Amino acid sequence: QAAGLGTEILTVINKLQDVFAAVGSSATAIDLPQICVLGSQSSGKSSVLENIVGRDFLPRGTGIVTRRPLVLQLINRPASSSKPTTNGSLSPKPSSGDANINEDEWGEFLHLPGEKFYDFNKIRAEIVRDTEAKTGKNAGCRAELNTLPGISAIPINLRVYSPRIVTLTLVDLPGLTKVPVGDQPKDIEKQIRDMLMKYITRPSAIILAVTAANTDLANSDGLKLAREVDPEGLRTIGVLTKVDLMDAGTDVVDILAGRIIPLRLGYVPVVNRGQRDIETSKSIAAALEHERNFFETHPSYKSKSQYCGTPFLARKLNTILMHHIRATLPDIKTRITQQQQKYNAELLSLGGPIGDNSSSNVILSVITEFTSEFRTTIDGNTNDLSLNE
Ligand code: GDP
Ligand code: NA
Ligand code: MG
Repeated sequence: QAAGLGTEILTVINKLQDVFAAVGSSATAIDLPQICVLGSQSSGKSSVLENIVGRDFLPRGTGIVTRRPLVLQLINRPASSSKPTTNGSLSPKPSSGDANINEDEWGEFLHLPGEKFYDFNKIRAEIVRDTEAKTGKNAGCRAELNTLPGISAIPINLRVYSPRIVTLTLVDLPGLTKVPVGDQPKDIEKQIRDMLMKYITRPSAIILAVTAANTDLANSDGLKLAREVDPEGLRTIGVLTKVDLMDAGTDVVDILAGRIIPLRLGYVPVVNRGQRDIETSKSIAAALEHERNFFETHPSYKSKSQYCGTPFLARKLNTILMHHIRATLPDIKTRITQQQQKYNAELLSLGGPIGDNSSSNVILSVITEFTSEFRTTIDGNTNDLSLNE
């Protein structure tokens, strides 16, 4: 259903984890990078993230809607034969008749332990409620919490469990602000900047630098900040939103071709839901269909429509994650070898080895096999990495 992060990478990770589980290795974790969205207020960051995840649950809209970082952990959980129970949950029993409910997908907030949200509309309501509680006028303890009126560095932690998602962390961030409004402190820009820096400085963070296509790329706050932490552009993808709102006769072709501000990993133009679509609760499926149609019929993009839109952005992310997994395999191998040596030494001290090292050897050979399998998959996908021809 979702354009989301593909089944290909899901299969690869699950396969690896199955192997680890089967031989009882402790080297199970494949650390995938966090994906962070960066950009000006209302550039469309939350909309982009939501389209990638493929579920409707983030507050979006004009103005500063995202006022605290949302650390969203997607956790792959194979569908079990037994139906999830909703006992003890405040959310209504899932019913497949509701478009925003699936029986095998739910969310849990760190600040509400044990409470399962099957209804993604309720997840959105809780994000709004808890944002208000920690940033609103009645928060009462702003100074202590180091918050600004309306904005706070305290993250909301949400986990989403589903059989159809890749185990991965995405971070929705407040936008960069220049002009203090109302009673906001004079240094609001610096405070937000410092908050964003904390997330995007991590070398493992993948940055989606979001710029609205109807604004000047040269003034893109997201790109400027991304360049500070990733000057070589090794982990920054440019995302151009609101391509549908550009003046007639203008397009982003020069940007895509790398003629304005070149980015190593390139740019992806997208069309998200507009404010009116939000008000009329347009579904993600309908939005993706509209987006596809837009690029396929637009005179400037139709010849390259496979390089446009949310599905292409998701593919690009997949490719980057595959590269990452491949790059971490040697390290996992080392860890397993070390484990193997440690056990051997222990066995020797206990009077000599019994049996062989078959289970460790199985993992090592499977990983070796994977490494070459990946090479084929990744090399096949490398063309996706840039629009430059
Ligand atoms: P954020 O503040 O960067 O998280 O931006 P939001 O995702 O909340 O979007 C801000 C506003 O821009 C909302 O009203 C969205 O409906 C609208 N918007 C975002 N992306 C697009 C787009 O590609 N096209 C159109 N027409 N509107 C968009
Ligand atoms: Na907004
Ligand atoms: Mg937002």
